Amino acid sequence: MNDSVVEHIPVLADALVEQINLPLDGVMVDTTIGQGSHSFLFGQTLGPEGVIVGLDVDKDSIHRAQFKLKDLACRVILLHSNFSQIRNEVRKEGIDKVDFILADLGVSSAQLADVEMGLSFLHDMPLDMRIDKRLQRTAADIVNKADEKSLADLIYKFGEDRASRRIARFIVQRRQSRPVTTTGQLAAIVCKALARPGRKRKLRIHPATRTFQALRIVVNNELENLEKLLGSVPELLNKNGRIAVISFHSLEDRLVKNNFKQNEKQNVYRIVTKKPIVPTREEVASNRRARSAKLRIAQKI
Ligand SMILES: C[S@@+](CC[C@H](N)C(=O)[O-])C[C@H]1O[C@@H](n2cnc3c(N)ncnc32)[C@H](O)[C@@H]1O
Repeated sequence: MNDSVVEHIPVLADALVEQINLPLDGVMVDTTIGQGSHSFLFGQTLGPEGVIVGLDVDKDSIHRAQFKLKDLACRVILLHSNFSQIRNEVRKEGIDKVDFILADLGVSSAQLADVEMGLSFLHDMPLDMRIDKRLQRTAADIVNKADEKSLADLIYKFGEDRASRRIARFIVQRRQSRPVTTTGQLAAIVCKALARPGRKRKLRIHPATRTFQALRIVVNNELENLEKLLGSVPELLNKNGRIAVISFHSLEDRLVKNNFKQNEKQNVYRIVTKKPIVPTREEVASNRRARSAKLRIAQKI
């Protein structure tokens, strides 16, 4: 655990607090407890009968949240578990229905800075990307073992990078001389693959952003887990209970949007946010991590 704790500023916190009113004895599940910053805001409004169940696949996040939430009046149950298992975890705690389910997807600022996570292309770290250290396969395993076509396909599918074939070719060429073992090496390979002499591409994001996103999604089965979570929510929510999801890229947002629409068609949900709520310019200026955030909320009918 990286103990020089990086403060995590909760994204779209004002919008969330405005949209979610919990009774004093409300029950919420924070499926991505992180440092507990969102939960802390809601926990302050709960009385001793209220409950927060917090899940996280990262043990260090659970420890950080434990510290942050220790003085709340409500009951706090923190579980080292994947949100794909939400139904079992909640039932194991003897809870039948809940009033609010929150998913703030992706990774926290502390995790991005954590060398052991190996997530950042801005700093050189071992190329790992497993948020849950119980997983076996690292990003380095994929980058060094997958064949060129599979690499290109995954960068295209999960990174939506149109230069996927070129990036995959550069990775395979480079690993023939020595394996790619750090985030810095991978970022340099992608930058080299995308550099076109004489042509200046105007980039809004770092050239390696999409490749890193693709690998992180695959290493952590992020989309499958999100689908399982979304599938479990309707039976867990009380009537008028709400689900809120903050996503950070279009693949996640599409899943959430389609799930809400489908549930609306079947008269299970009323969609609260016809359009996703996005951060204000001021929020983005004070927290760059918020820049691609989209918040969608639905209410159980
Ligand atoms: C953006 S952070 C959440 C920050 C939190 N809302 C806060 O205010 O401190 C996302 C967290 O979700 C966790 N996470 C990612 N995928 C998960 C999954 N499938 N199940 C449970 N936790 C997950 C990460 O480990 C990380 O701690």
